Amino acid sequence: MKNIVVFTGAGISAESGLGTFRDSGGLWDKYKIEEVATLEAFHKNPSFVLDFYNIRRKELVNSNPNDAHFALNRLEEKFNLSIITQNIDDLHERSGTKNILHLHGKLMESRSTLDNKIYSIKEHELNIGDYCEKGCQLRPNVVWFGEEVPNMDQAIEIVKKANIFIIIGTSLNVYPAASLVDYAKIADRVILIDPKSSSYEGIEVIRKKASIAVPKLVDELLCCVI
Ligand code: APR
Repeated sequence: MKNIVVFTGAGISAESGLGTFRDSGGLWDKYKIEEVATLEAFHKNPSFVLDFYNIRRKELVNSNPNDAHFALNRLEEKFNLSIITQNIDDLHERSGTKNILHLHGKLMESRSTLDNKIYSIKEHELNIGDYCEKGCQLRPNVVWFGEEVPNMDQAIEIVKKANIFIIIGTSLNVYPAASLVDYAKIADRVILIDPKSSSYEGIEVIRKKASIAVPKLVDELLCCVI
């Protein structure tokens, strides 16, 4: 079976009602990165940072996977499917996808500021005074700007084996995640789905919304596999 690797960003969750970061009106229009998405911000004003994620967790609980998330699962009929996502939402999981690697963490998890032990928080709030079992403050299990991306090496090894590499809903602005595109060396096809994407040499760009383009692409990929 051939390997399909799908690399997703906030755009795949946009039609589920979750804001992207860099579209106009996106999260980085409303908040300053240095006030909500860095370790320094958390040290300086922890409750403001925790509230930023509590608001997003509440939105996530009230949103559902869309046709793009569900369509990807059909690829498992004829391909080895791996999803690598920059998203901290759990919409891929809730659509039934199994093989998912999160690069930037998970909104539904927290971790100890003492030993990085992970605790599931599901849809609950995370506040000051919420401690790990050793009595230390919990933080969101999210990779902040300037922090290591622990799953990056594993992601690179997966992309190196991709026969088809599909990129969905990312501005390819943030490194090292965006550098994954450079590792798809053996891929017969590299396809990018994003209504506002620029053109990239060697990449088939489909300028359509994910919920329209992904099901169509999946049909096309499934129909010509014997
Ligand atoms: N379908 C497909 N793509 C879409 C849709 C849609 N319905 N709506 C928007 N997009 C595209 C936008 O055109 C944009 O190119 O999704 C992309 C979203 O880009 P960003 O907002 O920059 O999000 P992302 O690329 O995921 O950001 C990467 O930056 O802030 C950090 O950690 C954060 O993981 C995030 C990382």
